[in-house]
Amino acid sequence: MDRDMTVTRCEDHVGIVQLNRPKVYNALSFDMLDELARALEALDADDSVHVILIHGDDRAFSAGADIKDMADSDAVSWYLNDPLSVWDRIPRIRKPIVAAIAGHALGGGCELAMMCDVIVASKTARFGQPEIKIGIIPGAGGTQRLIRAVGKAVAMDMILSGRVLTADEALAAGLVSRVVEPDRYLEEAMNLAREMATKLSPIALRVAKEAVLKAHDVGLSEGLREERVLFHLLTATEDHTEGMKAFIEKREAHYAGK
Ligand code: CAA
Repeated sequence: MDRDMTVTRCEDHVGIVQLNRPKVYNALSFDMLDELARALEALDADDSVHVILIHGDDRAFSAGADIKDMADSDAVSWYLNDPLSVWDRIPRIRKPIVAAIAGHALGGGCELAMMCDVIVASKTARFGQPEIKIGIIPGAGGTQRLIRAVGKAVAMDMILSGRVLTADEALAAGLVSRVVEPDRYLEEAMNLAREMATKLSPIALRVAKEAVLKAHDVGLSEGLREERVLFHLLTATEDHTEGMKAFIEKREAHYAGK
């Protein structure tokens, strides 16, 4: 097994995970995905971490699932071993995840990006679900999350033709929220993550993520009910008292995360 396929560090309450298989454009082998999921789970459980940042390198966020891992598999072993279930652990992370993306974000790389909550892209970023070109379809949520992110027209275009979007096209389509110059994407993403992690209530951040993601799963009236319950929950936190008091006293809030 490669060593250190992901590298984790913490800074200013931000848990930072770097995808680290640069020779293969950070292709995600199953071992690497397990390592990534473990790293994210550890950061999710660490009270000193309020926000998570995932990045690759300047050439690639990730070129997707490791095709060499999948080339010899057969349906029975896929069914029995369910290796794709490793992906299910990533959307279970409760803290907000910022993705900093440059270069290729293809296949599982694009799907991983869509499991993150805010995407900051370099102008060099390229997003695609090219699985159709190797005789498969997206297997880590791409057919479901992409249509929710960009709508049917663009999702079908990408998934049926393998079309790759530029960063600006991804911004126009609603797949990413910020596009910046290539030398600034990591800094911009880190600044954003740091601002969230040091200035905002960590518990409100988690609850906000939960509430927004609910919209993917339920209808409007159920989603609104859920939002109301989560809103009420936050009024029971010390952070809510502190946030409102700080506003009235015209000072910075100091959140305890409870
Ligand atoms: N899996 C395994 N290895 C990969 C890889 C991947 N997804 N992507 C790139 N690599 C490897 C190449 O095999 C090559 O390795 P060697 O040097 O050992 O030959 C190395 O990375 C460099 O790749 P290229 O020579 O192809 O570099 P390039 O600059 O010409 O092209 C690229 C770059 C456009 C990213 C091209 O490599 C490519 O198209 N990669 C595959 C992208 C893809 O199809 N992704 C979807 C994977 S399937 C998936 O993700 C399923 C799912 O939903 C879970």
